[in-house]
Amino acid sequence: MSAETWAAVDTYLEPLVGEDEALRAANHRAREAGLPAIQVSAAQGKLLHLVAQLHGSQRALEVGTLGGYSTIWLARGLQGPGRHVTTIEVDPRHADVARENLDRAGLADVVEVRVGKGVDVLASLVADDVAPYDLVFIDADKPSNVAYLEAALELTRPGAVIVVDNVVRAGALADPQDDERVQGSRAVVERAAQDARLSGTVVQTVGSKGYDGFLLLRRLA
Ligand code: SAH
Ligand code: DHB
Ligand code: MG
Repeated sequence: MSAETWAAVDTYLEPLVGEDEALRAANHRAREAGLPAIQVSAAQGKLLHLVAQLHGSQRALEVGTLGGYSTIWLARGLQGPGRHVTTIEVDPRHADVARENLDRAGLADVVEVRVGKGVDVLASLVADDVAPYDLVFIDADKPSNVAYLEAALELTRPGAVIVVDNVVRAGALADPQDDERVQGSRAVVERAAQDARLSGTVVQTVGSKGYDGFLLLRRLA
């Protein structure tokens, strides 16, 4: 099985997934602005969107905005008059591109882009006692994954869903190595496994982004 086959299947799935003009424009603008093309694939973005819908989420928290591509998928999956996304990005250039993309997608009123280090912005959300989030998507610097999960537990209630991107890393998850990103993935999976408040699985994925996967958690208590 080859990477070309996985990418060809993502192409075949385009009519099902239904990436629209605003999403395509967001990636185009991000590329034009020189941002790295490391956003979720369309098929993965649609999965986040469906998780938000199936869960009935109103409020989402994202760590790692980049150009706002996953943010658009998530925001569009939220329900109700209180629908809101707080998304955190350390690079002000990325945040500017994301704000532009979210504005063009008609989501400026739904999404707040907060610039700063994930751990710092999360600590300030805790200090400000913000309303709890229903859905959390963690997709920033991988060594901080455990810190982000711990902050997510302070900012959610039982019933919340927490998703962590890029935990499989071409199978490295099951193969201890020096790479600090792999260590960050293993640490968050192991942290979740020993926390009785969390029920989880990893969805392994192949596609245009290669072989990777999402850690999917439900907060029970
Ligand atoms: N979720 C996006 C992709 C995020 S890529 C999508 O799928 O569309 C990871 C992002 O995390 C990058 O924009 C990077 O600048 C940001 N990032 C890296 N370290 C960070 C940190 N310490 N705090 C917050 N954001 C960080
Ligand atoms: C990288 C980061 C991501 O969040 C991702 O989905 C793919 C790649 C990276 O840092 O290389
Ligand atoms: Mg990612």
